[in-house]
Amino acid sequence: MSSVGIDQISFYTSNYFLDLRTLAKVQETDPDKYYQGIGQEKMSMAAHDEDIVTMAANAAYPLVENGEAEQVSTLLFATETGIDQSKAAGIYVHRLLGLNNNCRVVELKQACYSATAAIQMACALVARQPEKKVLVIASDIARYDLNTPGEATQGCGAVAMMVTAQPRVLEIDPEVGNYAEDVMDFWRPNYRKTALVDGKYSTKIYLKALKKAWEDFRESSSLTFNDFTHFCYHLPFSRMAQKAHQHLAKANKSELDANGLEQQIADTLSYNRIIGNSYTASMYIGLTSLLENCQQDLAGKRVGFFSYGSGCVSEFFSGKVAEGYQQFLFTDLHRDMLDKRQEVSYDEYLNLYKAPDPRDGEVHTIAADTQGRFRLAAISHHKREYVAI
Ligand code: CAA
Repeated sequence: MSSVGIDQISFYTSNYFLDLRTLAKVQETDPDKYYQGIGQEKMSMAAHDEDIVTMAANAAYPLVENGEAEQVSTLLFATETGIDQSKAAGIYVHRLLGLNNNCRVVELKQACYSATAAIQMACALVARQPEKKVLVIASDIARYDLNTPGEATQGCGAVAMMVTAQPRVLEIDPEVGNYAEDVMDFWRPNYRKTALVDGKYSTKIYLKALKKAWEDFRESSSLTFNDFTHFCYHLPFSRMAQKAHQHLAKANKSELDANGLEQQIADTLSYNRIIGNSYTASMYIGLTSLLENCQQDLAGKRVGFFSYGSGCVSEFFSGKVAEGYQQFLFTDLHRDMLDKRQEVSYDEYLNLYKAPDPRDGEVHTIAADTQGRFRLAAISHHKREYVAI
């Protein structure tokens, strides 16, 4: 069977961010609680004319701008901040990107985990028909109530991955380990725009799921902890990954000291520290961060992945970085986007937080603001109208 995996990977986040020092000042909290305690510095805030659809299209555009759109046979869209109970967000993206009419499109949901389900499904589709390309997009806006512990862990972002045979970036191994359990650690009923969370409990369940998924992985894979040079964890906030990695290392009686363990994850955290949580996209933005920021040549190195979705479903899987992967990354594009972002004041943050949500069926046009290529131009007669700029 030919190898399958990620052929290209690109992400998008909003042009606006709130520095968590600003939030700390308003809350009269020590900023080190955020900068060190949870390991987050900034959080991206979507403009009013941005949502999961526009972010997704922006993330995927570099992967299809040279005629590849015609070759995409399936678009799998992972999100937990869906905009419609019926219509898949990916259908809008299908049009914005000019995908062909014979392309299958579907939306997947299981909290922050569903992008990993999408990746595994994409690999299975491509293994069956190696000439096909499957586009996997994960896109989310993380929102908690104001003045709650979760507020500092908000953010937004989308990541797009082209899954193919003979991938040029990351070959994904077929063995996986799963752990699922019906728990109430984080959830968002249909009538709410913000998530509810039992914060401390959620971090405990995350660590339990990691241990259980790893044990299940070890049942099917011959790889051991020492076979991995790097690990990508789901990143609700970067300190969670540090705790998780220490937990896994301890369970495996690793001889690496604290610094050695930190080196195995440090480069995966750089982008998320300044973007915040992007739910389904966060682990894969972490992978992008590793590939684009690691000074070492990662070709041939094995990376371990722990994907966690509250509720909960989790998965440990592994991949091997391809030779020459550097030439297929979008490093300059991503760095440029992050460098050009604009800081907002606390009042501007509050304004962005209150994204338009008209429910009266009237015509609501939305002022142009995003720096991206695609925008939400109006919500009219209960229909969302997207345009390419
Ligand atoms: N300087 C340095 N560190 C400080 C500090 C200071 N002045 N003040 C506090 N800290 C440290 C604390 O000691 C603590 O560190 P430890 O965890 O190592 O003990 C850390 O900062 C956080 O402080 P608190 O525990 O007091 O923080 P909190 O209770 O206010 O909130 C949280 C923490 C529960 C994670 C909260 O941010 C939250 O609810 N977040 C949303 C839920 C979440 O992300 N859960 C993660 C698992 S679920 C998941 O992964 C799915 C998902 O995407 C949501």
